[in-house]
Amino acid sequence: MNKMTNKTRRVLLKAVGASSLITFSSAGTHYSLAQNNPSQYAYNFDNKINRVGVNSIKWDSAIAHYGEKKIKVPMTIADMDFQQMPEVKDAFLKRIKYESYGYETPPKSYFDAIIKWNRDLYGLDIKKEWIRNSSGLVAAMAPAIRALNPAGGKVIVMTPTYNGFFKEIKNTGMRMVTSPMKKNGSRWEMDLDDLESQLDDETKILILCNPNNPTGECWTAEELRALGDVCIRNGITVLSDEIWAGCTRKSHKYTPYASIGDKYANSSITYQSAAKLFNQPMLKTSYFFTQNDALLNAAMNDGGHHDEVNVFGIIGTEVAFTQGRRWMEEMNKYLDDNFDLLDSYINKQNKIPGIRFNIPEATYLAWLDCSVLIKRLTNADKLPKDQAPEKALSQWLIENSGVQINPGINYGIGGDGYMRMNIALPRIQCEEALNRIAKAVAAV
Ligand SMILES: Cc1ncc(COP(=O)(O)O)c(C=O)c1O
Repeated sequence: MNKMTNKTRRVLLKAVGASSLITFSSAGTHYSLAQNNPSQYAYNFDNKINRVGVNSIKWDSAIAHYGEKKIKVPMTIADMDFQQMPEVKDAFLKRIKYESYGYETPPKSYFDAIIKWNRDLYGLDIKKEWIRNSSGLVAAMAPAIRALNPAGGKVIVMTPTYNGFFKEIKNTGMRMVTSPMKKNGSRWEMDLDDLESQLDDETKILILCNPNNPTGECWTAEELRALGDVCIRNGITVLSDEIWAGCTRKSHKYTPYASIGDKYANSSITYQSAAKLFNQPMLKTSYFFTQNDALLNAAMNDGGHHDEVNVFGIIGTEVAFTQGRRWMEEMNKYLDDNFDLLDSYINKQNKIPGIRFNIPEATYLAWLDCSVLIKRLTNADKLPKDQAPEKALSQWLIENSGVQINPGINYGIGGDGYMRMNIALPRIQCEEALNRIAKAVAAV
């Protein structure tokens, strides 16, 4: 717990409209009207949980930085403001009763859960001996980058994409090369001619984000094969970040890179975890796999990777992948309904003039085209000119609406004019955020 006094904490709790630190209600017992057809749900996503006072980045860090009066609905870092599936808590309580945290190895049941989940949900067959563990996807990629790229070499990414890659590439002492994607209608597409033109002897790694954060594409098998062909032709190993696997919208399907053909599987390493889908990023447990022994060896031994993970992360992953299917399906349905709300509010009713967006194929991130709004606010002298307009808009929204969203330029070339909004929160808070932004924009 941080150094907040009880009084400060009570004030903050009041600010977010909750009365206890975290309100847990048992699954299936409480529903509010916001959740469509509540009788179909076993879990409650309408429950407003309070994340203030537990050092949460989205809430506590923002409040510490901007003040409690400013932060009313933070919609930033990619975690969910939903209650964890109760089965995880039950499993933790059982483990806590065994009062030893001595050295252990991950049990066979943990690997079986990963293998079965991938087979049942994504049609992907992986073997236990291909799998290694890590404390997170980004942490796991660093040793592979070091082992497979020449020292000081280049790593290529297609932007806009997850900005954690940028920092990690730098941390490994490599240089990042960017191939910007192109927007075609509602979708962003890879520009493979541009990508190939940038490859050279110093570049041996491409980091793929599949599905892509922040633009939300579920790459199809055809798109992945076309990318894979360029990579294979140029001796590039694909590190495929598939942390968003399964977090798909309506009819869209996630296609694992390792499922599109043997030669693609053989020249890639896939990184996954339960962290996004089941909201467990602080359990700090992920895994990666490849059928290619040489790649696995390089990432492990040459890259100096450590395979140890947290005992609670192992439990969280196993419970999620063995008991979490219904929770995941309901959570995805709830997110679809949140996106429908956004679509109706923003696109159909035009209640926030100057913003448009397309419902993504995956993720819980709305990639908002705010270019018209930025122009309007700039012309009205509302955005300071000494910083990037997207950062200025983020600041303006905090000041004027109490809603915090991420500037699109954080995600690399192509992100200008865009903002990223995390809609994994109870509908009532999503509605509140939209109303707050609409009111602020209407006042200009
Ligand atoms: C595409 C992607 N990869 C990795 C991460 C971070 O994963 P980890 O915390 O396991 O490093 C995120 C977090 O938002 C992400 O969106």
